[in-house]
Amino acid sequence: MKESKEFWDKGAHRYAKSRIRDEASYQKKLAITQEYFQPDWSVLEFGCGTGSTALIHAPHVKQIVATDLSGKMLEIAQRKARDANVKNVSFQQGTLDSLDFEAESFNAVLGLNVLHLIENVDATLSSVHGLLKPGGIFVSSTALVGELSVIWRLLIPLMQLIGLAPYVNRFGKEQLVSKLTNAGFSIDREWQPGKASVFIVAKKQPELTP
Ligand SMILES: C[S@@+](CC[C@H](N)C(=O)[O-])C[C@H]1O[C@@H](n2cnc3c(N)ncnc32)[C@H](O)[C@@H]1O
Repeated sequence: MKESKEFWDKGAHRYAKSRIRDEASYQKKLAITQEYFQPDWSVLEFGCGTGSTALIHAPHVKQIVATDLSGKMLEIAQRKARDANVKNVSFQQGTLDSLDFEAESFNAVLGLNVLHLIENVDATLSSVHGLLKPGGIFVSSTALVGELSVIWRLLIPLMQLIGLAPYVNRFGKEQLVSKLTNAGFSIDREWQPGKASVFIVAKKQPELTP
């Protein structure tokens, strides 16, 4: 975890300057997410990075708590929120298991480009499920590292050795879907912008009415 924090702290400024690789897919993911949002919703984002997506979503919900492991990422995110005069996004540093949120307090949780970076995904999905209100949604966008070209799959371990790549896990789409199902979610929407990534909206079972 310490290595991961250092990796992202070190890369924060470069990450902030990097351009979105596939703008059309990014816009489609924003639009799908906003189809679900309601103006009175409380949203949690983990692994928010430099906060760009939280700031775009902010006008569509009541509040967003945006969290990240990296303090450097959050410094940039906070500056962007101040510059944009966005008041309903707050930031907290930590991981889902280190932060203390009330159970069933969020209508939506966002985990964008982060699940493949987490070693114990099952524990994370279980935390997300516990934090969501009944009927709430978990929106995730995940790299399927096992589906990358052979060159990338060979390069990543070498890059990790010299500190140029973070920890990544290699689950495929079916494995991720079954992890979500095992955590208690049903899949509401699933879209693959390409072979090596998947965007999923997963739902927590709504409260049963007698
Ligand atoms: C690839 S960036 C994605 C940032 C942002 N969600 C986006 O889509 O641009 C991954 C982010 O996840 C954070 N991160 C990595 N592991 C994490 C963990 N276990 N808990 C919370 N954040 C984590 C990193 O610090 C980094 O900011």
